[in-house]
Amino acid sequence: MFKASEALQGDFLRSQPSEFLHTVSANYAVDEDSYLRELIELAQAQDLAALSRKANQLIIDVRKRDNAVDSIDALLQQYSLDTQEGIMLMCLAEALLRVPDADTADALIRDKLNAAQWDRHVGQSEHTLVNAAAWGLVMTGKVVNLDKRHDGTPGTVLGRLVKRSGEPVIRSAMMQAMKIMGRQFVLGRTITEALKNGKAQRDQGYTYSFDMLGEAALTRADAAKYFADYSKAIAALVDDKYKGASPKPTISIKLSALHPHYEVAREEQVIEELGESVLELVRQARKGDVGITIDAEEADRLELSLKLFEKVYRHPDVQGWGNFGLVVQAYSKRALPVLCWLTLVARSQGDRIPVRLVKGAYWDSEIKWSQQAGLSNYPVFTRKEATDVSYLACARYLLSPLTDGHIYPQFATHNAHTVTTILEFANRDSRPFEFQRLHGMGEALYDAALERAPKDTYCRIYAPVGAHKDLLPYLVRRLLENGANSSFVHQLVDPDVPVKSLCQHPIETLRQQKNLANANIPLPKDIYGP
Ligand code: FAD
Ligand code: 2OP
Repeated sequence: MFKASEALQGDFLRSQPSEFLHTVSANYAVDEDSYLRELIELAQAQDLAALSRKANQLIIDVRKRDNAVDSIDALLQQYSLDTQEGIMLMCLAEALLRVPDADTADALIRDKLNAAQWDRHVGQSEHTLVNAAAWGLVMTGKVVNLDKRHDGTPGTVLGRLVKRSGEPVIRSAMMQAMKIMGRQFVLGRTITEALKNGKAQRDQGYTYSFDMLGEAALTRADAAKYFADYSKAIAALVDDKYKGASPKPTISIKLSALHPHYEVAREEQVIEELGESVLELVRQARKGDVGITIDAEEADRLELSLKLFEKVYRHPDVQGWGNFGLVVQAYSKRALPVLCWLTLVARSQGDRIPVRLVKGAYWDSEIKWSQQAGLSNYPVFTRKEATDVSYLACARYLLSPLTDGHIYPQFATHNAHTVTTILEFANRDSRPFEFQRLHGMGEALYDAALERAPKDTYCRIYAPVGAHKDLLPYLVRRLLENGANSSFVHQLVDPDVPVKSLCQHPIETLRQQKNLANANIPLPKDIYGP
C-alpha cells in the first residue's frame, strides 16, 4: 500500500517501475479521509500564517493591475454558474455546436432563452461581453435595435426577438457569440498566426506550449489530420527564428487526438499504434530540441498513458534527451504515486522527465462517470481544498532532493495562494522549475508573481491553436473552470470576495470540516439512497 507520508523518505526507490505501477493502481479509489490526512502532513511544510500574509500581498498587487480582469472573467462573474442565466449560457455553449440539425438547435434555443431572467443583468458591467444589450447586438448582428427605451426589458426583448427574427437568426448569432468567447482562449488559427500573436509575450520573457486543438478522434481520418497538425506545428517550431532570450516553446499533445480507439480494452493495439505515432512526433521534435508534453485526460486512461509514455521514453531515439514529459493531475488520488513512479523511471534511465503538475480539468465528468459506473469510491478528491492540498504535497515532493536531476517541475495554476506556496518551497529548495498558465488566463497574476520569484524563473503559456470547430470541448472546460464559484480565478475578479478569504490555507479550511471527504457528494454506490 502507498504511504504518502513516507514518499519523501524514498523507500519506494527500491522497487522496479513495473512493480510500482501496481501500487499506483491500488490508490485508484482509496479512502479519501485517511489518505488526505497523510497528504496534509506532507503539504504542511511552512508557517501557514506567514504564507497567508504573502498570498494576501500578491492578491492585492494582482487586483490593482490593469489586466487583472478581462472581459471573459467579467462575463463569467455576471453569468456565474450559480445563476440560472449562467447555467443557460453554459447549456447553450455546450450543446449548440454539436446539435447536428437546425430544428433541434432552434428548439433548444427556444427552450433556454425563455427560461431565464435576462433583465437583471442589464447595465451590470462595463465589459462589452457581459452586458445583455451587447449580447443582443451579437445575437442580431445589428439587424434589430435593442435599445432598452424602445423595447422594454431585455427579457421581453429576447422573447420578441425570437418571435421576430426566428430561431435561425438567433442560432447563427449564438454561434458568433461562441466564436467571440473562443477568441479569448485561442492564440491563432494556425501555428504561424500563433507565433506571430505570441511574439509580444515572448519579448517580455514568457514562452509557450502550443496545443493543436482537436481531441477524442473518432476515425482514422481524424487522427491522421490531428497528427499532421502536430507535425506541422513541430516543424514550425524547429524552423522558428525567434532571437529573443525567452526559453524555446514546446508542444502539448493529447493522446486521444491521435488514435480513434485510445481505450484500455485495446491496450496492446494502442501501445503499438499510438506509441508509433507519438514516437514519430518525438523524433521530429528532438531534431530541433522542441520539447513535447503529453497532456493528462480522463482518469481511466491514466495507466494506459503511463505505459505508452514509458515505451516512447525508453526508445533509443528518445533516451538521453530529457525533453519528453507529461502532465499529472493533482485531483487524482494516484497523483503522488504517479510522481514516485516517474522518478523511478527517470532514475532507471539516468535522464530527466519534465512534469507539469495541474489540478485537473475533468472533475465534473469524473464524478458523473464514477456515479454511472457505481464505483465503490471516487478516483478524484471531492473537495476543492483536498485537490489544493494534494497539489501542494505533490509540489513539495517535486522540489525535493529525491527528484533532483530526474524531474523538471512545471507548476501550472492560476491560484495566487498555490503560487505563493510554491515560491516558498522553491526558495527553500533552490531547484530550477517553471510556472505555466493558460492563454487568456492568469496574466496579471504572473506579471506580479514573477517579480517575487527566484531570478531566471519564467512562465510558459499553454496556447491552443486551431479552428473554431475543434474548440468546443476545450472551451467548455474553461467556462466550467472560470464560472464555478469555488474557482480561484472566479473569486479573484469578484470585488465582493474579500482578499482575506482568498488567503486561507486549504489545510485550515479542511481542518474545519468534520469529514474530509465531501458529505454533499455521496459515494457512487449510495446515490440512490437506501
Ligand atoms: P483553482 O481554482 O485553485 O482550482 C480549481 C480546480 O480544483 C479545478 O479545476 C479542479 O481540478 C479542482 N476542484 C474543483 N472543485 C473540486 C471538488 N469539489 N473536489 C475536488 N477538486 C475540485 N488539466 C488537465 O486535466 N490536463 C492537462 O493536461 C492540463 N494542462 C494544463 C496546462 C496548463 C499550462 C494549465 C495552466 C492548466 C492545465 N490544465 C490541465 C487545466 C488545469 O487542470 C486547471 O486549469 C486547473 O485545475 C485550475 O486550477 P487552478 O489552480 O488554476 O485553480
Ligand atoms: C485542457 O485541454 C488545458 O489540457 C487542458 O483543458
